Amino acid sequence: MQNVAPEIEGYLAALNPGNERLARVAAEGEALGLPIVNPAVGRFLEALVVATGTRRVLEIGTANGYSALWLARSLPADGQILTLEINPERAAVARHHFEESGLADRVDVIVGDAARMVHKVAGPFDLIFNNGEKRQYGPLLNRLVSLLRPGGVLVTDNVLWNGEVVPGLVAPPRREPDDTAAIAEYNQRLAADERLVTSFLPVRDGLAVSVRRRI
Ligand SMILES: C[S@@+](CC[C@H](N)C(=O)[O-])C[C@H]1O[C@@H](n2cnc3c(N)ncnc32)[C@H](O)[C@@H]1O
Repeated sequence: MQNVAPEIEGYLAALNPGNERLARVAAEGEALGLPIVNPAVGRFLEALVVATGTRRVLEIGTANGYSALWLARSLPADGQILTLEINPERAAVARHHFEESGLADRVDVIVGDAARMVHKVAGPFDLIFNNGEKRQYGPLLNRLVSLLRPGGVLVTDNVLWNGEVVPGLVAPPRREPDDTAAIAEYNQRLAADERLVTSFLPVRDGLAVSVRRRI
């Protein structure tokens, strides 16, 4: 289910074209059936990097590196992205894209289960993009908030989950009910979390933008 008309998605994509390499990596992701973000989300992530003066990024869920390429575009030369991916073949494809983009010195792909790896990385991060396994969203939340600097931003993808977080909207449901329940519960937690100011946006499959309070 699309939150905005396909024509509007197309219009927004045309306003946010990125570059030829991004278009190629997006086409590759589609051909491989990877659930990567779209150009509107990519540009939004890039804008957040600039707005927050981000130097350090943590990403959960690399896939073929598409969103990390957007995140890296406006990162300063001494910036760093750590991106976690459980699938070694996908990690290898992503590394190849970072190398051919001249970004390999700025992007580290860590292969492993995010549930374990988030305890092996050291914060603080200015920006965290949470886009991995949906049932891990809840269990990882406290760790991710603790890794975020005050004023830092946690962006979570797929918070609308094809609209299925709205009970009864999609019948019969197309998504795994346990995943839907996990995301719905996570959204409630984000909304109630006093350490964060969270805005839920109906961009693509839904983005939650959570800013860690400074006090
Ligand atoms: C939605 S895709 C990421 C898309 C990518 N961020 C983009 O937009 O270009 C989710 C990725 O998370 C990975 N993943 C799933 N479970 C994971 C886990 N437990 N730890 C780390 N990565 C995981 C999947 O293999 C998949 O490549």
